Amino acid sequence: MTERIVLAYSGGLDTSVAIGWIGEATGAEVIAVAVDVGQGGESLETIRQRALGCGAVEAYVADASDEFANEYCMPTLKANALYQGHYPLVSAISRPVIVKHLVKAAREFGATTVAHGCTGKGNDQVRFEVGIQTLGPDLKCIAPVRDLALTRDKAIAFAEEKGLPIETTKKNPYSIDQNVWGRAVETGYLENIWNAPTKDIYDYTATPEFPPAPDEVTISFEAGVPVAIDGVRVTPLQAIKELNRRAGAQGVGRIDVVEDRLVGIKSREIYEAPGAMALITAHKHLEDITVEREQARFKASVGQRWAELVYDGQWFSPLKRSLDAFIEDTQKYVTGDIRMVLHGGQAIVNGRRSETSLYDFDLATYDTGDTFDQSMARGFIELWGMSAKVASGRDIRVAGK
Ligand code: ARG
Repeated sequence: MTERIVLAYSGGLDTSVAIGWIGEATGAEVIAVAVDVGQGGESLETIRQRALGCGAVEAYVADASDEFANEYCMPTLKANALYQGHYPLVSAISRPVIVKHLVKAAREFGATTVAHGCTGKGNDQVRFEVGIQTLGPDLKCIAPVRDLALTRDKAIAFAEEKGLPIETTKKNPYSIDQNVWGRAVETGYLENIWNAPTKDIYDYTATPEFPPAPDEVTISFEAGVPVAIDGVRVTPLQAIKELNRRAGAQGVGRIDVVEDRLVGIKSREIYEAPGAMALITAHKHLEDITVEREQARFKASVGQRWAELVYDGQWFSPLKRSLDAFIEDTQKYVTGDIRMVLHGGQAIVNGRRSETSLYDFDLATYDTGDTFDQSMARGFIELWGMSAKVASGRDIRVAGK
């Protein structure tokens, strides 16, 4: 029987050419797998037809947008996950859901190998292949760009020679990856890290310098998950989309960073994640009133570690799973409303309320009705400083000798 390979297919030039390229190099039949993670653009049916037109023996398409929002974006939100303090893991969280569908398709169509269009320099190859090793340990991996010398020039020549139904003249100078959680743009002109991004780079966000009137929004959460916007019930996917639209119109969520890739390269990235950044801001502020101090402090470092693991392709790892259990436990009381103003590139919280809040007005107030006994503070401070005071006494004693 002819060997079969499932290919992670985007519908773009490189993966369209990869179908025939892999076929010629290996003699295998190629099954194209396209996964909708809310990236917008062409319909799944158009992409399916193109895959078949480019020589795929089968095309598997999956609308995974709700699955992605519920099972990948929501955990990222609960973790307030920002890699290196900036990046809400847009591409990093889409790879595991694509891997799930690749492995499913490999089983369905009896494939022995999984192929993807990544280069050998990035994080995504790691995320795909570590994911596949974990979910389908018997499956092999191949990356035509990395392993079969499929360069851009060769791809264009191949597409033209074979008359593939794909545009070869439209040259985008950037490498772009996008889904409902955000958009990542790299390479080209951006590789000079002093160059400011030009306007044409952005798509999810409007220029914040000329914002429309301020937009006040109330986001309601239940156990860490957004459930309503301005009182209207929404699914996680709808919440992200609605905030992409409203925060995007205000230029919220533009990020320009040089980040540390897993492969040891520092790289310039432009991200746009209006919905993700607005949601993370709101969620963090709701945690500020509902999560106990020590739990909150510890959670910040857990969230950071979680972000690193996910960035590094460890979505299906045991440590990530254990951290998920901790984070989930902290979300029990993260229920309530956050009101925020979206304007001029910023999302600023100006009100919060929760039935499960730990904010105690009577303890906090400086007005009448204060229940806090200030006389307790003196003794507390005395003991709190005791250890450092004893040590400093020792320092003085030793220095004096
Ligand atoms: N550097 C980011 C990451 O590793 C984004 C990668 C996006 N891929 C792309 N082809 N632009 O998560």
